Amino acid sequence: MEAALSERTISCLLDQIDELREEVTDLKANGGAADYYYHVEGVKTKVWPPVRPTDKNIVMIGGGGGFIGSHLAKRLKEEGEYIVIADWAKNIYFEDSEFCNEYHMLDLRFQDNADKACTGVHDVYDLAADMGGMGFIESNHTVILQNSIRININCLASCVEFGVKKFFFSSSACVYPDYAQTQAGEFTPNLKESDAWPADIRSNAYGFEKLVTEEATKWTAHDHPIEVHVARFHNIYGPQGTWCGGREKAPAAFCRKVITNDEVFPMWGDGEQTRSFCLVDDCVEGVIRIMRSDCYEPLNLGSDELISMNDMAKLAMSFENKQLRIEHIPGPQGVRGRNSDNTMIKEKLGWAPSITLPVGLKKTYFWIKQKVAEEVANGADIDTYKGSVIVKATLKDDGASVRKGGN
Ligand code: NAD
Ligand code: GDD
Repeated sequence: MEAALSERTISCLLDQIDELREEVTDLKANGGAADYYYHVEGVKTKVWPPVRPTDKNIVMIGGGGGFIGSHLAKRLKEEGEYIVIADWAKNIYFEDSEFCNEYHMLDLRFQDNADKACTGVHDVYDLAADMGGMGFIESNHTVILQNSIRININCLASCVEFGVKKFFFSSSACVYPDYAQTQAGEFTPNLKESDAWPADIRSNAYGFEKLVTEEATKWTAHDHPIEVHVARFHNIYGPQGTWCGGREKAPAAFCRKVITNDEVFPMWGDGEQTRSFCLVDDCVEGVIRIMRSDCYEPLNLGSDELISMNDMAKLAMSFENKQLRIEHIPGPQGVRGRNSDNTMIKEKLGWAPSITLPVGLKKTYFWIKQKVAEEVANGADIDTYKGSVIVKATLKDDGASVRKGGN
């Protein structure tokens, strides 16, 4: 027997259907971002979707609040592109107006956040990662792997979903096999792009994650109408980079140690390890050239000026004629030696990084000197900058706690 509905029940149900319709319409209009706030030209707003100029290239930089991302953003903004930053922390050295048009505080480990970041943009540069120098990489394998793989896979998926045209991924020299990097000095290998395969990266999760994401970008471009570009950065340094707190790489750590010590220079390992270092200006130039090229294979982006860590310490000492005794202590060392082989980038782009280490490191040294002076003037104890620390990250960390840790 059918139960008869009273007129009142029917009217209530119809009202509920109307309310649901309104909610769905609202959700569609707001892209699920009804309570989401972000900054446009420094002003807080929750208008969604974002209203953007129609005559500009709209560029989203994931991790644009970080070192390389902020330099890249600044340069692209100066060239007239409209810059959208998505990062889980604020940049601490530039005002928003100096390097971006929109700032979205988003944790890209979550798909809906990656969706917000990739809505309505033409190009995406994915530079977001949980990363640092050897001190960080060798002590935080799980966090690095879990956080960065989520960020990268989410960003790729959102780009496909929202029809992004071009995608750039910041890979690393750490993708090269462990067995190919066991020699230093005159036997240091010049790593060419094809050396990445067959893969053998058992020493660190960071490099393996980068290689997995390189493959993910390749297959995404294979299956979808999106153009992808990949650069393998070789130790990028410069002003506005992390210089203390445990995530800093050797160039910044060495400048800080020379600036703050009077007698000894503590050095992890015997100092015979070799590397090449690339100033951020060259890195940004390279990223832009790669993104605008028709090269879709991973390219090395680094300097091929090889130096041992002992010699880099001496170079840092030379800027103010300091004579410190290098004290070799145990510490995380990474690979024994590596250099960038720049044959392929020269072939593909007719260009390669060229700023020398003495020029770039000097610039970095005096920027760090100024930062140390500011910190000490604010009450910091100079002794805390004399050595390098190892920090342990957790999956519960967020942008705020990471920046507080010294970035
Ligand atoms: P960085 O740490 O200064 O920048 C990374 C940015 O990503 C930071 O601003 C950080 O807040 C952000 N980020 C981290 N987790 C996030 C999350 N869950 N959601 C949103 N944002 C998040 O590092 P960088 O030196 O500018 O490096 C940029 C990229 O280049 C990274 O992918 C890094 O792995 C790669 N890379 C850098 C070097 C180098 O020497 N600097 C070398 C090889 C590769
Ligand atoms: N960071 C640091 N701090 N390194 C030191 C220190 C110090 O105080 N003292 C000596 N070193 C030595 C390390 O032991 C290592 O052998 C060498 O300096 C270089 O260290 P990093 O600059 O920290 O790292 P990396 O070159 O091994 O790897 C970096 O570059 C890759 C790309 O080339 C990392 O930052 C990776 O994240 C990056 O992908």
